[in-house]
Amino acid sequence: MTRSIPHGGTLIHRINENLKVDPSLNHVELSRLEWSDLELIANGAYSPLEGFMGEADYESVLYHMRLTSGLPWSLPITLAVPHSKAKELKIGETIHLTYKQKVYGVMEVKEKFYPDKRLEAEKVYQTTELEHPGVKKLFERPEVYIGGPITLINRPDKGMLNPYFLDPKETRETFQNLGWKTVVGFQTRNPVHRAHEYIQKTALETVDGLFLHPLVGETKSDDIPSEIRMKSYQVLLEHYYPKNRVFLSVFPAAMRYAGPREAIFHALVRKNFGCTHFIVGRDHAGVGNYYGTYDAQKIFSHFSEEELGIKPLFFEHSFYCKKCENMASEKTCPHDPQYHVILSGTKVRRMLSNGEQPPKEFSRPEVVEILIQGMKEIYSKN
Ligand code: ADX
Repeated sequence: MTRSIPHGGTLIHRINENLKVDPSLNHVELSRLEWSDLELIANGAYSPLEGFMGEADYESVLYHMRLTSGLPWSLPITLAVPHSKAKELKIGETIHLTYKQKVYGVMEVKEKFYPDKRLEAEKVYQTTELEHPGVKKLFERPEVYIGGPITLINRPDKGMLNPYFLDPKETRETFQNLGWKTVVGFQTRNPVHRAHEYIQKTALETVDGLFLHPLVGETKSDDIPSEIRMKSYQVLLEHYYPKNRVFLSVFPAAMRYAGPREAIFHALVRKNFGCTHFIVGRDHAGVGNYYGTYDAQKIFSHFSEEELGIKPLFFEHSFYCKKCENMASEKTCPHDPQYHVILSGTKVRRMLSNGEQPPKEFSRPEVVEILIQGMKEIYSKN
C-alpha cells in the first residue's frame, strides 16, 4: 500500500477564521471532548465527517460500524445539549459553539434527537457499568444530541505544545517532503516504554517512517499528563531513534477507552493524517478488564483492507526476556514467563510517584528520569 487517500476520498476542510462572531446567534457550550472533536472535524482528521452526527449516521454507526454511506466508522461523534437548550433551538438555525464561553465554531442545526444511552454504551463500550470511564462520561452528558455541519472560526490555543499540533494536511505534506511512501502510525496515551519501542522499531524495519502520534486530549485522571509525556517522547527520540525516520506530532482527541471500536477509529483517523499502516498491539485503547487482550485486533476482520484504506500491523504482547536478553513476545521467546519483565500501568505509575525507577528492561532511564521529575512537580503543586 503506498500513499494514503483520506477516508471517503477527500480531506475535509471546514475552517474559516475570517468569519466574524455574530453576537445575536444562539450558542451551545461544548464539553472538552466535544471541543476537541470540533477542531478534528474541521481540520479533516475525522474526514468524511463534516459536522456532528445526525440520527441516521449515529444509529448506523452503533449497529453496523458504518456511516449511512457505507463507509466504515466505529465511534459516534455527537454533540449533547440539555433538554431545555434543545427546546430553544430551531431546525435550520445557525448557532455558535463555545468552550469556556469563547466562540470557536458555528453549526447549522439540522437535527435534534434523543439517544438511547444504554444502547450506545452496550454497542460502543460493551458494558453499561459506570466504573468504565467512557460509560460514566456518556451517562453524565446532557440528554439530547444535535447534529449538523460545523465551521471552525477560532483555533484553540495550544500553549507550549503548539509546534506539535499539525493538521492532517500538514502531516501529509511533511511525509511527502521526507520522501516517505509508507508511514506507520502509533497511537499512545502513555509514555513510550520498551515494549512500545520494540513494536515501533519492528514496524520500522519494513516501512519508510514512523509517525509517533500521542493522544493529548482528555484522558482519565490517573493517566500521565501530556506535558510530561511530551518531554519523555522528545528525550527518547533524541537518544534511541534515527532522526530522519520518525516524526512526532500530537493527536488532540479525547480518549474514549472504547477498546476495539476505538482501534478502528484510531486507524481511520491516522489514515487521514497520511499513514498507510497502523500499529495495534495488546488491549489497544482498553481499560480495566472490559476487553479481551486481542479484541482490538480481531475487530479488523469485520472490514476489508480496501475499505479501511490503512493496513493494521498487529503485535503480540511484548516484553523483555532475561533469558533471551532481548525484547520478545510469545511468538519469538521459548522461555518461562518468570524470565519476562512485565509491569502493569498501575504499578509503574505507583513506582514513578514514589520516585522509584522501573527497571531499564521496562523503560529507558532517560524516560524514567523525566517521568519521576514530572510526577514530583505534580505532587508539589497539589
Ligand atoms: S492506548 O490506550 O493508546 O492504546 P497504550 O499507550 O497502552 O495505549 O498503547 C499504545 C499501543 O501499544 C497500542 O496499540 C497497544 O496495543 C500497544 N501496546 C502497549 N503495550 C504493549 C505491549 N506490552 N505489547 C504489545 N503492544 C503493546
